[in-house]
Amino acid sequence: MILSRNDSCWCGSGLKYKTCHFEFDKKIKILKKQGYIVPTKKLIKNKEQIDGIRKSAKINNGLLDLVGEKIKEGMTTEEIDILAYEYTIARGGIPATLNYDGFPKSICTSVNDEVCHGIPSKDVVLKNGDIINVDATTMLNGYYSDASRMFMIGAVIDEAKKIVTIAKECLSKGIEAIKPWGFLGDIGAAIQEYAQSNGYSVVWDFGGHGVGLQMHEDPFVFHIGTKGTGMILVPGMVFTIEPMINEGSHEILVDEDDGWTAFTADGSLSAQWEHTILVTEDGIEIIAK
Ligand code: MF3
Ligand code: CO
Ligand code: CO
Repeated sequence: MILSRNDSCWCGSGLKYKTCHFEFDKKIKILKKQGYIVPTKKLIKNKEQIDGIRKSAKINNGLLDLVGEKIKEGMTTEEIDILAYEYTIARGGIPATLNYDGFPKSICTSVNDEVCHGIPSKDVVLKNGDIINVDATTMLNGYYSDASRMFMIGAVIDEAKKIVTIAKECLSKGIEAIKPWGFLGDIGAAIQEYAQSNGYSVVWDFGGHGVGLQMHEDPFVFHIGTKGTGMILVPGMVFTIEPMINEGSHEILVDEDDGWTAFTADGSLSAQWEHTILVTEDGIEIIAK
């Protein structure tokens, strides 16, 4: 559909196109002509959609706060899963991972050498010294938010504390690399630089992703890469950054029995943190954390 300058803007603001997204669309069109990779309109969220994602994230953030309060030695990952399910449902949300592509649970729980997509189980009992990633994706009124945090169980050795800290700092470096009208590749470059300079490797097989109207949208957000390459990041884009950092090699394997759990090929520790980020006119907003 071609909008004329006096039509109301496609973003739903109620303003005339000429006073709203007209210049914005022109800028994208010019960049595209110059050979840059630009997002499609579908990847640019309007106010109403951003509000919906924020409300979904309120549940997702509250859930991870609750997990932080309750998680302890002796608990099974299935108990955390039940907590997540009940918290989300009670607030009108739906745990988006439940039955996603056959994934059987409401959250992912990945312990020690597990990289991501661990399946909560009554057989996995949290032990003193464990590090665990809990990854939650909430859907509320059709809007998705996605975040994960690491938790340390009891007395954790310094080696494990360090990878948890560096993984979090990798996420911060990635976020700091975002500039409105900058490049997607800047994010991966910053993360890779920071992880490797601290002696860790970055997992390649999984990345962040657009999120909001679906759990996984374009673009794929690499956690390695080259500055000044990839899609242009424009205000209104919502995506996750979720670097997975390994102590040893970046190589991972996926459990053949459950078809989901990714773990480090060399058995070394892995850590991950994930936020959902909105690109704004003058920077970013962390929506889910
Ligand atoms: N929350 C995960 C992510 O960060 C997605 C998990 S999909 C599942 O992208 F099926 F493994 F749960
Ligand atoms: Co996630
Ligand atoms: Co994600």
